[in-house]
This record gives sequence, structure tokens and C-alpha cells, in this order.
Amino acid sequence: ISSCVLLTTLLLIHPRMKFLMKLPYYYYQARDTNLTITITYVYIFICSTFQIDFWNPETITQVKPEMRVDFRVEADKSSDVESLLEQSGVEYEILIDNLKTVLDAQFDSNVRATGHNYEKYNNWETIAAWTADIAAQNANLVSRTEIGTTFQGRPIYLLKVGKSGSNKKAIFMDCGFHAREWISPAFCQWFVKEAVSTYGSDTLMTRLLNNLDFYILPVLNIDGYVYTWTNYRMWRKTRSTNSGSSCIGTDPNRNFNAGWCSAGASKRPCDDTYCGSAPESEKETKALADFIRKNLSTIKAYLTIHSYSQMLLFPYSYTYSVPENYAELVKLASLYGTKYTFGSGASTIYLAAGGSDDWAYDQGIKYSFTFELRDTGRYGFALPESQIKPTCEETLKAVKYIYNANYILS
Ligand code: ARG
Ligand code: ZN
Repeated sequence: ISSCVLLTTLLLIHPRMKFLMKLPYYYYQARDTNLTITITYVYIFICSTFQIDFWNPETITQVKPEMRVDFRVEADKSSDVESLLEQSGVEYEILIDNLKTVLDAQFDSNVRATGHNYEKYNNWETIAAWTADIAAQNANLVSRTEIGTTFQGRPIYLLKVGKSGSNKKAIFMDCGFHAREWISPAFCQWFVKEAVSTYGSDTLMTRLLNNLDFYILPVLNIDGYVYTWTNYRMWRKTRSTNSGSSCIGTDPNRNFNAGWCSAGASKRPCDDTYCGSAPESEKETKALADFIRKNLSTIKAYLTIHSYSQMLLFPYSYTYSVPENYAELVKLASLYGTKYTFGSGASTIYLAAGGSDDWAYDQGIKYSFTFELRDTGRYGFALPESQIKPTCEETLKAVKYIYNANYILS
């Protein structure tokens, strides 16, 4: 039973809709032009009649007025869904009419070489080997540790990047919370590459690595990531079992002790935003939280990399209240460019409790950000490899800018 069936309270919202569909799946973009009530009814009806995979936001419970909604349905349901939309006066657009084709087209990198490559999506085995290699080849700057193991027993690697020194402050950045957001691990790898290859030549990078230690966690939800390569490309959660349910997995970004499961998260194990049986119920989130708690005295900033929608979010997401240094965060988020939307999570997108950004902030890490990388919905999670480089380059600029802020360095 998906959460949409229970949603009677949404009858008065006014969403702007965008639909993702068809295996082959269809991907739609839609806009309401009619009465709110009809639209929402249509929405709930579609949601409860057909299997829907929400892409953005992740569940119907996170839909709020004026929000665009992306989702995917199976190909054989698409004509029914379309006629429903049409009858209800919902304007829509199909963005992907055959998701399989687009998923195949993800691998459009013109790099032909096999093995690890920064402009390709690397599978876990390749990334794991890369973490060892990059540390071995740059012993003066990079070291690798293990902060725990995943539900299925895979080691969770953490890279420490920086010139050794005493009393250094640190920055923590993780990637790969959500399995299907492939551009995220690609960015963590890119960042490490840039660090080791521009240290000594790029003034800012040199300054950063001399003054700070960067903890880079390339993939947190490794089990989920592996599953997206081997079984189901659109998997989001961890792969842990749930007692009393045959559904698998917990949303790692609803599993932290920050207003845990109070809003924008589901208590049902079958849902994509399932908050888990308790805060830090997942071995992966527990390992991350333990590491940060242990290193709280040095960690000054926390960055967590997701996709998609091109946004830079900061606390809070579990409440509409804004953090005490809101103005400072707005400044940090606003100076680096215009391509991204930014603001507090709750007011910019939706209430979603249990996120690592809010948790880190409440631990005292005052510079806490969630990046939502490319794109804004053309490809969504199926972002082609040819966009890895531009995405990482623009994100690197932003990240360096934030890291360079006086607040953090001084
Ligand atoms: N799309 C992200 C998610 O749903 C947004 C995270 C924003 N932060 C938060 N604490 N909800 O996980
Ligand atoms: Zn995510």
C-alpha cells in the first residue's frame, strides 16, 4: 500500500505537476490549469490506481502548493494516465517516452577506456579499488579508512584529504546517500581528483588543503548503489530488511535524529521515504553519525551531495524555523552563481525530517548544506555521463567557495 492512498488531506493543495513515466517508461511534465480540487483528486487517483515511482518530490506527502511533481509509471498505464490528465484539464509534457532508451544513453561518455574514469559512472567495485589507488598514489595528501560496514557487509570507505598539519579544522562531505543519484558519487570522486591534481598549482585548492582536512565519503549507501547497477536502476533506499514486512530498505536521509519521522517521512517500510525503525537504525547512517560525533571538535562544515533539481539547501528541513545563522548561510549559498535555487529546506522544497544536514547542524556544525546537483528534470536521475564534467566543474566552484569562507577557515 503506498502512502498516496491515504492522502485525503491533500485535497486542497495546488500542485504543479510533472510526470515521469514507461518499461519502457514515460516521463511527463504537467501543469494544473484547472480547479485545485480536481487536480488533486486526479493526482491521488492516479497514485492509488497505478504504481507510481515519484522522482521529485519523493512521495505524494511532500507535495505542496505550486510544486512541480515528477513521476514515472509503467508504459502500459501511460495512455490511461494521459487521458485522465487530459479529461481533468491538466497540462502535461512527456519528457522521456522510453526510459530504457535514456538509461542506455546515460553511458554516452566519449571516454572509451575501461576501468575507473572520472567522466563515467563507475560501479562500486571500481570505486572501491579507486579509493585504495588514489590513497596509495598520493600518500602525502590522501589516506583511506573504514568507518563501518553496510547492512550487506561492505566496508564504508572514508578518504581524508589534506596536507598533514597540527590542529587542522575539517570539512565533511558525503555522496551516495540515495542509490539512484549517480551523479553524487561521481562528484566526490571528482573532488578528490581535483584536490590531488591541483594541489600546488591552484592557489585556492592549495590554501584549502594546507589549512583544512577534507573527509570525503564517496558512497554511503553502497548496498543500494550496487543494487542500482545490478537489479533496479531506480532504487533509492538502503537494502536492509524490515521486521514484519517483506519490503526492503530505509531512506537514509530520513533516518537521522533530527525531528525524526515527524514530517515528510513515512512510517511504512514499503515507502521510498521510510524513516526506519529508529533514528540511526541503519548501519550506514550510524557509522556516519558515529564518525561525526567523534570528530565534532574539528568538523566545521558538512556537505551532503544529492540529485536532482539544482538546489543548495540548508537547515532546517524538519521545521519551518530558520537556523540562528540563517543570514550567513544565505550569503554563502547565494554568491557563487545563479543556476541553483537555494534556501532553507522546509521553505524551499518541503518539510522532510530526519535528514543528515539538520542533524549535523544541531550537533553544532553551523555550515551544513545539501546540494541537489543537475538537472532540473530533463533527465532526472538518468543524467547522461556527458554531463558529469560540467556538473562537477560548476559544483566544485561552489564547494570551494563555501570552503574558502572566512567563517570556516578562520
Ligand atoms: N531531496 C532530498 C531528500 O529528500 C532533500 C534533502 C533536504 N534535507 C532534508 N533534511 N530533508 O532527501
Ligand atoms: Zn537524495
